[in-house]
Amino acid sequence: MSLLGMLFLSVLAAVAVAPARVAAAGGGGCAAERFSSNRVYAACSDLARLGASVHWTYDEGAASLSVAFVAAPPSSGGWVAWGLNPTGEGMSGTQALVALPKSGGSSGAYDVQTYSINGYTLGSPGPLSYPTSDLAAEIGGDGRVRMFGTLKLPNGTGEVNQVWQVGPVAGGSITPHAFSGDNVASKGKLNLVTGASTSSGGGSSLLRKRNTHGVLNAVSWGILLPMGAIFARYLKTFKSADPTWFYLHVACQLIGYAVGVSGWATGIHLGNLSKGITYSLHRNIGIAVFALGTLQV
Ligand code: HEM
Repeated sequence: MSLLGMLFLSVLAAVAVAPARVAAAGGGGCAAERFSSNRVYAACSDLARLGASVHWTYDEGAASLSVAFVAAPPSSGGWVAWGLNPTGEGMSGTQALVALPKSGGSSGAYDVQTYSINGYTLGSPGPLSYPTSDLAAEIGGDGRVRMFGTLKLPNGTGEVNQVWQVGPVAGGSITPHAFSGDNVASKGKLNLVTGASTSSGGGSSLLRKRNTHGVLNAVSWGILLPMGAIFARYLKTFKSADPTWFYLHVACQLIGYAVGVSGWATGIHLGNLSKGITYSLHRNIGIAVFALGTLQV
C-alpha cells in the first residue's frame, strides 16, 4: 500500500476512534432531533419499534437521568409513553412517563403523568419508584410528541430495561394501545454508561472497556501502522539503514495489526453489550478500516 493509502487509512481510523457520541451527534436519525428550550442530550438512540427515539444525559455521579422521548401517537391527540422497568422486561413493573393532551384542552398542549404500572392495566397516576422532576411534553408540527423528564435512579445504575408505547386517547382518557406488531415488541435495554457525556474516575467496567477499545485502535491504526509505512518508505533510502528499516517495518506492521485485531474485537464486544444503541457512522468506518487493513496484510 502506498504511503498515501496508509495515511488515508489512518485518517479514517482516527475518525472511527473518536468518541462514539461525536459520531452520533454528527449523523442523521435521532442525532438530527432538535428540542425546545435549548435542551440538549449527550446520547440518543433510534428505537427499533414504533419509529421512536430516546435521548439522554446520564450523570453517573448523581445517578440522575435526564431524558427526552420522541414518538408519534397512532392518531392525532393520542398518548405516548416511555419508562424504565426495574423488575422485568415488559409492561408490568414499568415506571412510566405518559404524555397526553392536557385535560379539556383543544389547545394541542400536552401534559405528563407518571404511572407505576402493575400488571397489564394502567391504574391511576401516582409517584414512581424513582423521584422525577422537570416533566414536560409538547407536540411538534410534524405530529410527533416530545416528552421530557429527569429521573433519579439508584446509585450505580448502568444498564436498564426500557419500554415505550403509543396509544389513542378517547374522551380525554388514555385507552389501550394495539396488542400486536410493534406495540408488543417495544422494549429493550438502555445502556446509560456507554452513552454517558463525561465521566471522571472510570469507575464503571463499561467505560473502561470503551477506553480500552479507543486506546488499542489509536495505537494500532493511528501510530504503529503509519510508522511502519514511514520506515519502509523513508528509512529504506538510507544505505546505512539496510536492513534495519525492514525489521522495524515488519515489527511495526505485525504488532500494529495484532493490536488492531484486539481493538476490533473489543469494538464487537462493546456493540454486543449496547443493544438498542447503534453508532452507524463509527461502526461503518471501523468495518472499512479493518477490512482494508486486513486486505493489505
Ligand atoms: C390503557 C393502558 C394500557 C393497557 C390496558 C395495556 C394493556 C396491555 C396488554 C394487555 C398487553 C399484552 C398484550 C399481548 O401480549 O397480547 C400489553 C403489552 C405491552 N404494553 Fe401495555 N397497556 C397499557 C398501557 C401501556 C403503557 C403506558 C406502556 C408503556 C409504558 C405499555 C407498554 C407495553 C409494552 C411494551 C407491551 C409489550 C410487552 C409486554 O407484553 O409486556 N402499555 N399492554
